[in-house]
Amino acid sequence: MALSFLGRRCCQTLTVRFKAAIGNSVRVLLSTESGKLSEQETSDGQQVERETQNYAAPVDEFYYFHEGCTEEVKRTVIDGYKLYLNFLTEDDEQSLQREIDRYMKRMRYEYDHWDDAIHGYRETEFSRWSERNQKIIKRVRDLAFPSDMRQLPLVHVIDLAKDGYIKPHIDSVRFCGNTITGLSLLSSSIMRLVHDKHKEIKVDVLLHPRSLYIMRDAVRLDYTHEILQDSESHFKGQAVPRDRRLSIMCRTEPTDSQS
Ligand code: OGA
Ligand code: MN
Repeated sequence: MALSFLGRRCCQTLTVRFKAAIGNSVRVLLSTESGKLSEQETSDGQQVERETQNYAAPVDEFYYFHEGCTEEVKRTVIDGYKLYLNFLTEDDEQSLQREIDRYMKRMRYEYDHWDDAIHGYRETEFSRWSERNQKIIKRVRDLAFPSDMRQLPLVHVIDLAKDGYIKPHIDSVRFCGNTITGLSLLSSSIMRLVHDKHKEIKVDVLLHPRSLYIMRDAVRLDYTHEILQDSESHFKGQAVPRDRRLSIMCRTEPTDSQS
């Protein structure tokens, strides 16, 4: 069953890091958006455990503002596009992938619809998850959506092949409200944001596997978003090779004024 989302697209708080070497391990303190400090124990650079997974990606490392971006544009994008690194642990990622693969393996990747917003993909919507994965989805929803915001109950999953990509689009306001969240699994990728009316305003965001983005307000409404194909997948001059990528998206309901 290939559900088509085509009609639906027309488509920091800056983290401060303190590092102190303690024996063989490195303790990393992170100030989160909520202002809470969390600790992350690393050994040989490997993360072992942490208290909270909601820490914002350093803007200067993960956002690239092209030349046409003013300071005001930067503020708008930083306000409307939050990126959280390592929102998922590797175990979370595997657990989600297992459940998605169990369903997706029956489906073929779609390539040949010339008018598609996506190329080289399979997609579905999940209404039920295993108990473990349900907890992960709840963590996303609790972080992104205020309790009085109505959410779409179905979770949208896209499996992009290594050579797959998502063309520039804005999710239709008829089907989706003010906020869109996306978990990235398996592959790094570049999400490019381009102002719909001023194409010179362009921002690239480096999406690592296990990160979460939350796109809302002006960025969700006034900017197209896309996932670059392998041949264009560069960040600050460095290639960011694409591989198979899973994304898991939650959205709010459209508001009456938009429908
Ligand atoms: C979409 C979309 C982005 C992603 O499905 O509308 O833009 O991260 N997906 O997969
Ligand atoms: Mn979209």
